[in-house]
Amino acid sequence: MPTGTLRRVVAVIALFALGACATPEGPFAERHMIAAANPYAAEAGLEMLREGGSAVDAAIAAQMVLTLVEPQSSGIGGGAFLLHFAPGRPDRGVPPVLAAFDGRETAPRADDGNLFLGPDGRPIPFGERVVGGIPVGVPGVVRMLAEAHKRYGRLPWGRLFEPAIRLAEQGFVVSPRLHALIAADEHLKDFPAARQYFFTADGAPLPIGQVLRNQALADTLRQIADRGADAFYRGPIAADIVAAVQSAPVRPGKMTLDDLADYRVKVRAAICTPYRDWRVCGMPPPSSGAVTIGQILAFLEPYDMARIGTSSAQAVHLIAEASRLAFADRDQYLADPEFVRVPVAGLLDRSYLTTRGQMISTLGSMGHAQPGLPPDAGPTRYAPDQNALESASTSQLTVVDDNGNAVSLTTSVNLPFGSRLMVRGFMLNDQLTDFSARPAINGLPVANRVEGGKRPLSSMSPTLVLDRDGRLVLAIGSPGGRNIIGYVVRALVAALDQGMSMQHAVEAPNFVNRNGPTILERGTALEPLAEPLRALGHEVQIRPLTSGLYGVRVTRQGLEGGADPRREGVAIGD
Ligand code: DON
Repeated sequence: MPTGTLRRVVAVIALFALGACATPEGPFAERHMIAAANPYAAEAGLEMLREGGSAVDAAIAAQMVLTLVEPQSSGIGGGAFLLHFAPGRPDRGVPPVLAAFDGRETAPRADDGNLFLGPDGRPIPFGERVVGGIPVGVPGVVRMLAEAHKRYGRLPWGRLFEPAIRLAEQGFVVSPRLHALIAADEHLKDFPAARQYFFTADGAPLPIGQVLRNQALADTLRQIADRGADAFYRGPIAADIVAAVQSAPVRPGKMTLDDLADYRVKVRAAICTPYRDWRVCGMPPPSSGAVTIGQILAFLEPYDMARIGTSSAQAVHLIAEASRLAFADRDQYLADPEFVRVPVAGLLDRSYLTTRGQMISTLGSMGHAQPGLPPDAGPTRYAPDQNALESASTSQLTVVDDNGNAVSLTTSVNLPFGSRLMVRGFMLNDQLTDFSARPAINGLPVANRVEGGKRPLSSMSPTLVLDRDGRLVLAIGSPGGRNIIGYVVRALVAALDQGMSMQHAVEAPNFVNRNGPTILERGTALEPLAEPLRALGHEVQIRPLTSGLYGVRVTRQGLEGGADPRREGVAIGD
């Protein structure tokens, strides 16, 4: 191996072992901190924070690096939700401000409920839906970050792209996770641009430690850095995206130049729900995050979770039962609010939740839960349907800056490497498979059916917790498809009720229930709970549950980081 390459490999191994002056309790910093899905991305964010950049500046720099180093998970060809906290000046009567930026992909205008149906009128198999042109939604990341920067950026937009451009030109080291996901992917080789980039000349997956350059991405990022988001949504880059979708080698899609030019970021009001001494704030629909997490926590409130914890049979039972109820409502009512009347207020109505929570028994499982009837359900009846699943993709970025601003950003191309279509050095998403494949079931419409211009229902749950005075307590989020909700709830109960450090809360064993089996994380102390849970009536499965929780908690001493050892990221700061 040439010495230069060797030096870079050694440097990257050191980088992957990095944490902000890690203590037994986990990473710690005094002024600012970033916890992100990949060390290169965290480093780029920290570079911005050290220059006086804001949390948004750090998040943008980190996202651009993730496009390069975690192409399986997120990037400018995908979508994202960003939750922002500005602390205000409570001493001068200026309240904190929360903003929820929705950069979710939209379905091309020409799409309709038949998008994923075969000639026989039945859904084409999931494995076929997820690659090629039809699952590609109009990407939202670049417009969303531009809007967040306009409001909360401090450094010049162009500066935020420099770390990613530098790394794309000089090369980064292929990580074990990127290598493993290339090797495991059945489809990547069928797409010429991806085949050329992710495999050696002999057709082998790029090995761990290989230094990889991406000049095409460097050129793309330079254009966006110089000319802003319009460089992506209009002109040659947009034309290449449309060409890739329309002439995909399998299942070409209908995206047009107008779809890209018309993409709009939505700045929504965050949803905050009370939980004991805290307010837990998250993304409104089209994310199911805040509503579903808010419901689960409301169902848990009558129980002494500080005592019950998150690792006993009783804890798993209660959280699983609460999750069943919340997922039953999620799968029936939640969708893009611009297309479907979503009864958010009713679903979070305290008396509705109190009554519904009484279905939980400490003595046994309720089994599959039915959706409830919230007070403002409206006249239209929808058929429940589940969307999406867990996979190895999606990235979480969590930042707190010197001024106490915070960002929780969950960002995704959906399944690993998205649609597998690669354009100008980045991957196009396959996010439209988060829609229900069926427009109607037994004559009833499905709320989350495909419609032109609509955003598919998501489980991405960037979350901020505030105290009674509106001060930031912690920021967190995770990848994991529909399991995200369970991961975030478990970490919140561990951090808030049990008072665990951010790192311990992130590391603790996972379990989820999406209104079906109760799934315990393989290889953890939860495995022996299978029998007692079965005795309570749960169908139990033991599986890997690969969360990627990245959190920052504000304490009196400073900032406590949490970086999920199940993935490659770190929490670093000063
Ligand atoms: O928006 C969603 O809920 C999914 N498309 C996220 C995908 C994901 O997290 C993949 N699994 N790790």
